[in-house]
Amino acid sequence: MSLATLQSRPANDAKPSRIVIEPVTPIIGAEISGVDLTRPLDAETFAEIRQAIRKWRVIFFRDQDITNDQLKTFGRYFGPLTPAHPIAEGLDEHPEIWERAVDEYRVRRSENDNLKPGARKPRDYKGWHIDITFVANPNAYSLLYGVQIPEYGGDTLFANLIAAYEGLSPKIKALIDGLQAVHQTTSYDFGGPARPPRKDGRSTGPFVSLHPLVRIHPETGEKLLFLNPGTTTHIVGLKERESQALLDLLFFEVTRPEYQVRFRWRPKSLVVWDNQAVAHAGPIDYAHFDLPRVVRRITVAGDLPAGPDGFRSKALEGELFNVLG
Ligand SMILES: [Fe+2]
Repeated sequence: MSLATLQSRPANDAKPSRIVIEPVTPIIGAEISGVDLTRPLDAETFAEIRQAIRKWRVIFFRDQDITNDQLKTFGRYFGPLTPAHPIAEGLDEHPEIWERAVDEYRVRRSENDNLKPGARKPRDYKGWHIDITFVANPNAYSLLYGVQIPEYGGDTLFANLIAAYEGLSPKIKALIDGLQAVHQTTSYDFGGPARPPRKDGRSTGPFVSLHPLVRIHPETGEKLLFLNPGTTTHIVGLKERESQALLDLLFFEVTRPEYQVRFRWRPKSLVVWDNQAVAHAGPIDYAHFDLPRVVRRITVAGDLPAGPDGFRSKALEGELFNVLG
């Protein structure tokens, strides 16, 4: 597809849109330029952005010098916002915003290397995950803004979960279409017993949820592999070794290089991904650089995922992810 065919067509000659959408790979990821996210967006411009994320699953903006309020305003075009995280706190003045420094990854990973005997160590898979699937209603979209970005290192990878499903054989698709899997917080993933209480009084878990292993995308109707290397513990109804083997196969499929795009950050880059269609990993190389890296994230509320058989996700422990608006 040529760039020219992707450039937006103005609805009329008096108000031409300047948005340019440039795919990064044939299967996932597109960079969007020609839009200033410090300013309100007209309906036509946001419709083009929305269409781009449905098609390319993750979209990249560069050089967006936006405030925390402008970040939230842009996020609300996609839907109401959640708090920063079901367990971790947001910024004092902006409870929707989760600020992350790369140092957190370094500490958490080194703790994970020293788990007590018998403690469950989640699969690593270089940090691949879908955001917040330990709740029954994970966020629909995630927006991540680059505040302090090193000259090199700290890239984020994204994988297309719809392509991963479509790449399976019909026999494996038939096997997994009606299955469900348990996702839960782990000691690695914020579920430790010593969490301080939340300012809003909500429970800090543990959270355990049951999700369809194959999810129907709520906006496009496509099927996708809905599993999370970090938090999916087992598939319901299988023997343990069967569950492990099948999850290993599916994790391998999700993380195949041909379904991925790799994003190199710069300060003031903004990434929006469809958390209903992609897994991501980042920063994957934290152990190899010692430079500061700070990003801010907001999340857009999502529905209870649905499977091909109509099964809807449900909470086994813990509350639903709430909405701030
Ligand atoms: Fe994430």
